[in-house]
Amino acid sequence: MNEQSNRLLIAGNWKANGSLAMIEDWGAGFKAPEGLDALVFAPAPYLRHAADRIAGAAVGAQDLDDVDDGAHTGCVTARMLADIGCRWTLAGHSERRQAGESGVLVGAKLARAAAAGISVVLCVGESQAEREAGRLEEVLRSQLDEGLPAAWPAGVEIAIAYEPVWAIGTGLAASAADAQQAGAWIRSCLAGRGADGKIRILYGGSVKAGNAAGFVGQPDIDGLLIGGASLEAGSFSAICAEVLA
Ligand code: 13P
Repeated sequence: MNEQSNRLLIAGNWKANGSLAMIEDWGAGFKAPEGLDALVFAPAPYLRHAADRIAGAAVGAQDLDDVDDGAHTGCVTARMLADIGCRWTLAGHSERRQAGESGVLVGAKLARAAAAGISVVLCVGESQAEREAGRLEEVLRSQLDEGLPAAWPAGVEIAIAYEPVWAIGTGLAASAADAQQAGAWIRSCLAGRGADGKIRILYGGSVKAGNAAGFVGQPDIDGLLIGGASLEAGSFSAICAEVLA
């Protein structure tokens, strides 16, 4: 963890999973950890219910649309998220990028969220083919350039999640050394932006209890973004306990 950072940020991304019953179990089973910031990104229909039922973790959205309120059937606006008390969102998850979302659109969404007072975890990461072609640094820099605002917004946090596409949901986590190498590169790309020493950089991709501590032990990794292992409060709590130990 970067010594200038305040605290570890341990976040779960439920993706398109969850139910009212699951949220009841999650809220009942979660032991709110002291000494780190816990956050879960819930599906939009469950945001309010999850916020009501989960103590000790903030609840954030997984995405928003780049539109104002109005004639945009099916869209979720930043104002709506702020209105229900949502204070965090993801932007640019690779599953959204794979669905056709451009880096420029990711940047527009981030700017809208920030303008509405919503903090953002911007996801970046390379595919296996990009990694093998030696394009890791170029891909990360371009995703950061497209995603981050030119003027750093006041009053909201922007964190970066490094999620190599090949490590997501595969059980093949990056090594802690690979995560650190990418984290250091991201940190160098952030120099001069915002309060650069304080920007939290998370690692995501097949994190579970057993490998979590190795990531946050790296100087340029300040937290985790956890998919599958966040679906049960017990495994998410175990990861929180591991990184605090
Ligand atoms: P897994 O932890 O299931 O690999 O998912 C990572 C992820 O995509 C979190 O956003």
